[in-house]
Amino acid sequence: MLTRRAFISSAVIGSSNALLTAKWAFGKSKPFERSLPIPPLIDARSVANKIGLIAAEGRHKFFPNQPTATSGYSGAILGPTLRFHKGDEIAVTVENKLERHTTVHWHGLLIPSISDGGPHNPIAPGTSWRTTLKIDQPESTAWFHPHPHGDTARQVYSGLAGMVLLDDGSSERLGLPRTYGVDDIPLLLQERQFNSNGSLRYDDGPQTTMLGARGDTVIVNGAIAPVARVPVGLVRLRLLNGSNARNYDLSFSDTRAFHVIASDGGYLPSPVRRTRLIISPGERFEVLVDFSDARSVILETGADQFIPMMGMMSGDVSGAAQIIKFEPDPTKVSKVHSIPAKLSTMSDIGRVDGLRRRQFVLNDHMMGMMGMRFRNRGLAINGSPYDINRIDTTVSLGSSEIWEVESGMMAHPFHIHGVQFRILSIDGRRPPMHLQGYKDTVLVLGSAEILVPFTQRATREHPFMYHCHILEHEDAGMMGQYVAT
Ligand code: C2O
Ligand code: CU
Ligand code: CU
Repeated sequence: MLTRRAFISSAVIGSSNALLTAKWAFGKSKPFERSLPIPPLIDARSVANKIGLIAAEGRHKFFPNQPTATSGYSGAILGPTLRFHKGDEIAVTVENKLERHTTVHWHGLLIPSISDGGPHNPIAPGTSWRTTLKIDQPESTAWFHPHPHGDTARQVYSGLAGMVLLDDGSSERLGLPRTYGVDDIPLLLQERQFNSNGSLRYDDGPQTTMLGARGDTVIVNGAIAPVARVPVGLVRLRLLNGSNARNYDLSFSDTRAFHVIASDGGYLPSPVRRTRLIISPGERFEVLVDFSDARSVILETGADQFIPMMGMMSGDVSGAAQIIKFEPDPTKVSKVHSIPAKLSTMSDIGRVDGLRRRQFVLNDHMMGMMGMRFRNRGLAINGSPYDINRIDTTVSLGSSEIWEVESGMMAHPFHIHGVQFRILSIDGRRPPMHLQGYKDTVLVLGSAEILVPFTQRATREHPFMYHCHILEHEDAGMMGQYVAT
């Protein structure tokens, strides 16, 4: 049997061939034509902090003359972008017009578990769910998506997902770009496969369970190969990886540098200059990109290096691709030309000895998955596949703990509900600067130690989840439940 390292490096070598062949195929076959759709913004204050969402099926045009059956929130695909202000209480109603049970989970929000929208808040077809969200956390980019027991992957794949912009006035105070859709642009990245008739293709076999649903086509805000016209100046991109399984390795076609200003839970202490950025499913990063040279540029991704057994995958699935083209437009008003040196005051991690430690081993017995001989195809945490009736972990409300997460053969984006944590180490080393801020999801290949403060109540009736954000892994059992009282 191969060791994990040898296994992964053979996967990486396998993928470099795919990279050579796939690198430009995407851009050639699908020219950048369509302008980037911007989901409608609902500022909760403009509607008296009352938000209504309708989950329903629809038809969306990925291709000019071929409507595709999709689902969305109050629209054919995805959902509105919601802006919530710190200190406000938002009354949310979700109506389920789908033919299956759903939930709406608020990924990244610090709210009690009763409002969290996990598997314990099911909404039956034809019914509604009402909840209240009290917004009390720093400015950041969060999102919402379905989280029904065993059916999350398919529902997200069909198009259900939306962004949440939490606002505490920092953008204005810091002078950051903040005109939604103009110099503050949401980019929801996903990967899909299509059948020749334009319908979404979702293979339900063991390979999909093992590697997650992958695709040969990257979509941004529901569009294939879009163009964004941007002001000639600094532009903020809110990157959200809403894919079922794919990790993006982002860079610009001219290798220009950009600055990461925020991670999942809010601003970093200061901007971090990068030329490459890996974003795994569930994660968000906000970046500032300078378009003042007025040159067009393409945002690209390298092949997903975190997939083992690349050889099993056909064609350009999760391969290198061109994602979106930016065309600076001098007629657009550019307001921001300088990057603030300091963004937030984030406390030092401080002393961590004496804190309670727990271990979470993410089980992905590949051989079990292929042979389908294990229950749940071998996907579990600490040997136990998810059980909606079992509480796996009990923490005390108000405490902090260190969680040690260890992956199996492949990389898993580990996510915890109801918290924003700090990464202490990845494989025994300090994480790179852009991963030192607040996070709710961390890509683990090997091991990671995270410092988790528990500030939100979770009861036995509505426990919080922790799980792999490869949605097929989550659905198949790589998930556990915790109570915080
Ligand atoms: Cu975005 Cu439990 O997930
Ligand atoms: Cu979540
Ligand atoms: Cu996983």
